[in-house]
Amino acid sequence: MSREKRKLDHIHLAMEESTSVQSHFDLIRLIHLSLPEVNLAETNLSTSISGVPLHSPIFINAMTGGAKSVKEINRKLAHVAKETGIAMAVGSQRAALQKPELWETFQVVRDVNPKGVVIANLGADSTWDDAGQAIDMLKADILQLHLNVPQELVMPEGDRSFVGILQNIATLVDRVNIPVIVKETGFGMCRETYHQLIDIGVQIVDVSGGGGTDFIAIENKRRTQNDYSHLQAWGQSTAISLLESLSCQNQLTVLSSGGIRNTLDIAKSLALGAQAVGIAGLFLRILQTEGTTALIQYIQSWHQQLHTIMTMLGIRELAAFKQVPLVVQGELTNWCKARQIDWRGLANRRLQS
Ligand SMILES: Cc1cc2nc3c(=O)[nH]c(=O)nc-3n(C[C@H](O)[C@H](O)[C@H](O)COP(=O)(O)O)c2cc1C
Repeated sequence: MSREKRKLDHIHLAMEESTSVQSHFDLIRLIHLSLPEVNLAETNLSTSISGVPLHSPIFINAMTGGAKSVKEINRKLAHVAKETGIAMAVGSQRAALQKPELWETFQVVRDVNPKGVVIANLGADSTWDDAGQAIDMLKADILQLHLNVPQELVMPEGDRSFVGILQNIATLVDRVNIPVIVKETGFGMCRETYHQLIDIGVQIVDVSGGGGTDFIAIENKRRTQNDYSHLQAWGQSTAISLLESLSCQNQLTVLSSGGIRNTLDIAKSLALGAQAVGIAGLFLRILQTEGTTALIQYIQSWHQQLHTIMTMLGIRELAAFKQVPLVVQGELTNWCKARQIDWRGLANRRLQS
């Protein structure tokens, strides 16, 4: 199975997926204030990732490139990113490192959006030389290194050994001279992982949790032998991954992604400490079924909705989301109790500050 064919399969199968109707985000409630004392016109959506300024907390997460026929998808996504002022990550650039004729399927992103924030993407087992080429290919502002162990294991042709990846990340983070995000791919993260990454000098993670695109489900559909459907929904949801990160946020910039359905999920992510929020599968489906203009309008309306939510919450800056009290309910409370996460403190933090 060629890498290019696999990329196309992923796009087609991701189109068949749907963002969950139910989500752990539904078990989190933001507390309404009747007297917010904020003018909507004063609310500000700008943020930053390790010094890279962003006009919006929303970004297009890593999806594609690496096959001639997906160049058009990257061109359209880059146009959407430019028109809406949001950052965009490309899919894994590994294929292009092996075949220079595929570079253009990624470079189109920089060509369309010369001043935008563009994020390069490679597996966390990549070499220093690969990372340098991937960054140069895009004149990238940030590099993502992805972790996808369950996907590799369910993929018949996937990797089977994951020894030495932590040390490799340590080397890359030390040597790459732009910010490096270590990201999951829909399976989420936990405190143990955050500590491993902090200990080797990682400063930014994208939790990319469950609730949206499920690569065990996607790879299972590509298999002809051995059903792995019982492993679907493996991992931590995005809400749990963010809760798990709370005690590490003084040492780690945390990004949220995985199954983001709407601006309330974004607001809850920001209240759980996320600095920015990535969306992959949902944006791909809107782009492919409704078109570029529809996706631009969709993101613009999301920006308006975020201003509205900030006004209702009584905050002017995104950073202030981190003081917004929230109530964790249902099975999420059980998780917090079992993992000794201070969910009561979250519910009362404005009163305490
Ligand atoms: C078609 C498709 C291809 C993807 N390819 C990559 C990839 O090459 N590198 C990567 O880090 N993540 C990749 N992802 C994972 C996303 O970046 C994201 O972590 C995951 O889909 C969860 O977000 P979502 O629920 O909003 O889709 C891909 C996702 C989709 C839908």
